[in-house]
Amino acid sequence: MREPIVSPARRSRATHLMVTQPFKAAPSYAFAADVRAGLSKYPQKELLSKYLYDDVGSALFEVIGLLPEYGLTRADERLLRCHAAELVSRLPGPVVVAELGSGSGKKTRAILEALCRRQNTPYFPIEISRKALAMVQRELGDIDSISIVGFEREYLDGLREVAARRKPSQHLLVLFLGSTIGNFDPPAGAQFLRKVRAELRPGDSLLLGADLEKPIPQLLAAYDDSLGVTAAFNLNLLARINRELDGDFDLRHFRHLAMFNAETCSVEMHIRSMRDQRVAIPAANFSVSFAEGETIWTESCHKYSPQELLALARDTGFRQKAQWIDREWPFAESLWIAD
Ligand code: TRP
Repeated sequence: MREPIVSPARRSRATHLMVTQPFKAAPSYAFAADVRAGLSKYPQKELLSKYLYDDVGSALFEVIGLLPEYGLTRADERLLRCHAAELVSRLPGPVVVAELGSGSGKKTRAILEALCRRQNTPYFPIEISRKALAMVQRELGDIDSISIVGFEREYLDGLREVAARRKPSQHLLVLFLGSTIGNFDPPAGAQFLRKVRAELRPGDSLLLGADLEKPIPQLLAAYDDSLGVTAAFNLNLLARINRELDGDFDLRHFRHLAMFNAETCSVEMHIRSMRDQRVAIPAANFSVSFAEGETIWTESCHKYSPQELLALARDTGFRQKAQWIDREWPFAESLWIAD
């Protein structure tokens, strides 16, 4: 088992390496296998959304968070900033914080600062991205009375380790922000939250971010902005296959598509083939045909209602203690207590 990263900044960098040719990473077999499996699916081809976030994709997603059409990230941050003190006042002391998918940790600052005014606070970001974990240290390391230990793990594995390390007197606060819950379909989301609950003790807390239902044109604009950044973000998946697996996708013959599925109340992201075409992906030992109009499904984002969140808490072993909803962009931060 790998050790938790205590000080990610300590890793050395080869700064004087001479590189005259563009450096190309060895192809990842897991990526190749997932691409092959996803594009072999019938009738709906798919690519896993976790592959959207390579360096180019992560940079594009940062920009998406700045777009006027995409209010989600700002609403999440606004709520955390405005209600951090009240949130902390509702938690019993002493608290240990675990965050599922911390990213850079930037938006968690408000909560951690409020907690650190009250107590020494151990903070355990759980992230599969080593780069993001290294950023957490830089982003939050200056807060007084904080101790940060990053876990480069899948969510539930990381949470299990954090839960095993905390002392009997310590209360656990799990953060699951940014509406990642919406990227599960609702039954799978409930299943995931039950697994989170299974790692907790009664009285522990979960702060859950969830994007809420809103008018369809507003949703579609959020996932198909006028500048085309979201389109670039989605199409980057094909560009990544070209870069890493030597694929020959011609990006001009594919288009980003966002549509609202009223039955599941979710925005579905696809990439549409604009003509009949065949694409070779040599490093995945694979080639694939597309019919004109056929799509590759990349992600769905379910939009919750406040009542649905209340029922979800009950169904997954929690009780809702408080909920804050942003006025500008319907988004909810819900504080749940493990029953
Ligand atoms: N999953 C995020 C969301 O629901 C990220 C996202 C924003 C996204 N725009 C996208 C994912 C377009 C795929 C395609 O908001």
